Amino acid sequence: VPTVIFETSSELAKYVASVVADLVRSKNEAGVPTILGLPTGSTPLGVYRELIRLHNEEQLDFSNVITFNLDEYWPMDPDSIHSYHKFMHENFFDHVNVKPENIHIPRGDIAAEEVDSFCEEYERSIEKVGGLDLQLLGIGRSGHIGFNEPGSARNSLTRLVNLDPVTRRDAASGFFGEDNVPHHAITMGVGSILSAKKIIIMALGEHKASVVKRAAEAEVTDEVSASFLQTHTNSLFAVDSAAAAELT
Ligand code: F6R
Repeated sequence: VPTVIFETSSELAKYVASVVADLVRSKNEAGVPTILGLPTGSTPLGVYRELIRLHNEEQLDFSNVITFNLDEYWPMDPDSIHSYHKFMHENFFDHVNVKPENIHIPRGDIAAEEVDSFCEEYERSIEKVGGLDLQLLGIGRSGHIGFNEPGSARNSLTRLVNLDPVTRRDAASGFFGEDNVPHHAITMGVGSILSAKKIIIMALGEHKASVVKRAAEAEVTDEVSASFLQTHTNSLFAVDSAAAAELT
């Protein structure tokens, strides 16, 4: 996977935001919507901050942007402080002009017996708008992209999954303890992600260095979902120097 290394997280954020902005501007000029796949977590926060700045100061127009978030905990009330709905609205959507009807986030509040049909519908709504133009990703220490934990198949689609113990431990501080972290999530699959025309995977910090190496340079294996990006023809690793420390 081609890799770009940045000295600081803010340089990385500026670069990734500029890729998003260039895409949105060219689609806007062509009069067609931009379809974005979006992550939550700490890694993309700087990108969202920079996109908000570009909206406020450089008139970057999101009115023809359609978004699909990767994942949401299940069960999870969208109004909960822990939900990815809350996260996305607080950190991005409340500050730009994406139309509410163009925002898609897996629902954590659907009944168990409706989850399968919800997931099929999520896939269909991505297809209906012509697929993702650009998917942004973080990477978990379990090697996950979205919440595709070890063992996820390359062709997996949106579905209900069990969270890896490593993932639940990493989420514990936000939930006032590991016991409160949900055991399940609804996530886009590895296959849903790899269908995107372009993918940028981001990693910040030394705690990501070993998984970045395994994803970018070791064998392609379902033990590290992010390693499947090696099979995508237009994917890019954007990392800071700490996360790049183990790359050869
Ligand atoms: C979040 C997501 C996850 C995170 C990953 C890294 O929507 O899909 O794969 O990107 O867990 O999280 P941070 O950025 O908090 O280290």
